[in-house]
Amino acid sequence: MEKYMCPMPQNKNSAARPFAVEFRHVTKTFGRIVANHNISFSVPAGTIRALVGENGAGKSTAMKILFGLYKEDSGEILVHGKPQHWRSPKDAILNGIGMVHQHFMLDETSTGLDNIILGSEAYLRKFPFVPTPFNFIDRQTAHKKILAIAQKYGIDVPLNVTVSELPIGMQQKIEILKILYKKPNILILDEPTAVLTPPEVNTLFDNLKKLRDEGKTIIIVTHKLKEILNFTDDITVFSKGHMTGEIKTSSATEEKIAHMMVGKNINLHPVITPAHIDNPKVVLELKNVLNNFHLTLRQGEILGVAGVEGNGQSELVHFACKKNKKTNRAVGFIPEDRHHDGLLLNMSALDNFILGRQWEKMFRFGIFQRRAAIKKLFKGEMKKYDIRPRNRFLNAAQFSGGNQQKIVVAREFGKNPDLIVACNPTRGVDIGAIQFIHEKLIENRDRGAGILLISSELEEITKLSDRILVLYAKKIVGCYNRGEITEHALGLAMCGGAL
Ligand SMILES: Nc1ncnc2c1ncn2[C@@H]1O[C@H](COP(=O)(O)OP(=O)(O)OP(=O)(O)O)[C@@H](O)[C@H]1O
Ligand SMILES: [Mg+2]
Repeated sequence: MEKYMCPMPQNKNSAARPFAVEFRHVTKTFGRIVANHNISFSVPAGTIRALVGENGAGKSTAMKILFGLYKEDSGEILVHGKPQHWRSPKDAILNGIGMVHQHFMLDETSTGLDNIILGSEAYLRKFPFVPTPFNFIDRQTAHKKILAIAQKYGIDVPLNVTVSELPIGMQQKIEILKILYKKPNILILDEPTAVLTPPEVNTLFDNLKKLRDEGKTIIIVTHKLKEILNFTDDITVFSKGHMTGEIKTSSATEEKIAHMMVGKNINLHPVITPAHIDNPKVVLELKNVLNNFHLTLRQGEILGVAGVEGNGQSELVHFACKKNKKTNRAVGFIPEDRHHDGLLLNMSALDNFILGRQWEKMFRFGIFQRRAAIKKLFKGEMKKYDIRPRNRFLNAAQFSGGNQQKIVVAREFGKNPDLIVACNPTRGVDIGAIQFIHEKLIENRDRGAGILLISSELEEITKLSDRILVLYAKKIVGCYNRGEITEHALGLAMCGGAL
């Protein structure tokens, strides 16, 4: 692999900009898995650093160590020049570090407001002689404070709704507000944009730039090349647990970053032609759902659905799956929240792989499961989808986010479905895996499946879809054929704007 090395922290501009964060030879293992191997890199204060690399490269692990969730086996981390050994995230928070996690850490039974103030509640001291926990939380003042922050940063979320009732993009914004509320000096954001739409991404990064200009330091983990190029100052690359390169964003290109991440050239702009199916059958028909909503999906087509979350997507998925229950068709379903609806985290990767497919003929012999056949098939799929580590016995929870996604995708595509309902199918997967999943969607389409693609990634929608529907206020406000609408115009249409 070509190396763009800067292995040791070089405090070249330390006089002007001291380092906010320094990793020095940090190693972290989980049993036999070396998640971080002798990692060294440093981030000057007042800059935005992109941390990139393939799925399972060790990015989240390194960030969790910095946040006090994991303890390094060896090496040390300096924060503002001082060695730190957090005992828990509480120590990190007290020292001005905030983290937005790849998989949200929200209490789903509480409201957005309670989640935001959790750990830093102010109490109404109406009963001075009563111990603090029995006093009332001052939610009114907290509400005002949060609204002021939300307004300053242009983040619009309902604060009094229980988190479980919020769509995933809203939950993401609650996570972001939660750290802004604590006013940290160092912000770690682990794939914060995976479920945000382009206008929301722009708002987030405008805010991050504001924070940087106020002197805050930001480390952001992302797989999205455009974000990296448009909004960050420097890029650090991880590969298979090692820190393998560093580059100034100003001298990077999409191709160069992709190459640094996966060690080979990737065709980032493949040409996709329509499928040719004779007399395509209708695989999904919805009539009169939502606000007079009609939808027809045929074999051999990808129907993209664009829209800001909450404009009817979840209802659409619900109707599509419900309708299909009545037919005997095989349906592949990639949910937007893999932890919630896609995986049993405490079961092995192998068991997750046949989840919902356990009654398929090829997996059964009478009342018995054909374990050998299942293992053989999954072994092949792990290789094909590059699911790492190649250990089928590990629990789903022990895989990195992107590798968990690949387990779900491999299972659902493996059904050879007639209908695929794919919600953000490439959420959290790396550049190579994005291309692979896109190829697989096209392959499924070309063999005659009908695909409903719901994605916050407009590039994904415009690139893959044969037809595009735009949802706004639970109505279809636009319908376009391939090539008829640009990403920019699509962004406007889904916000209710004129084209
Ligand atoms: N709690 C855990 N137990 C066991 N292994 C783990 C655990 N957390 C992470 N790992 C392993 O450590 C390695 C690094 O995982 P990590 O989550 O840091 O990757 P990542 O770079 O964030 O990947 P992604 O882009 O998919 O989120 C992986 O091989 C993963 O399987
Ligand atoms: Mg991760």
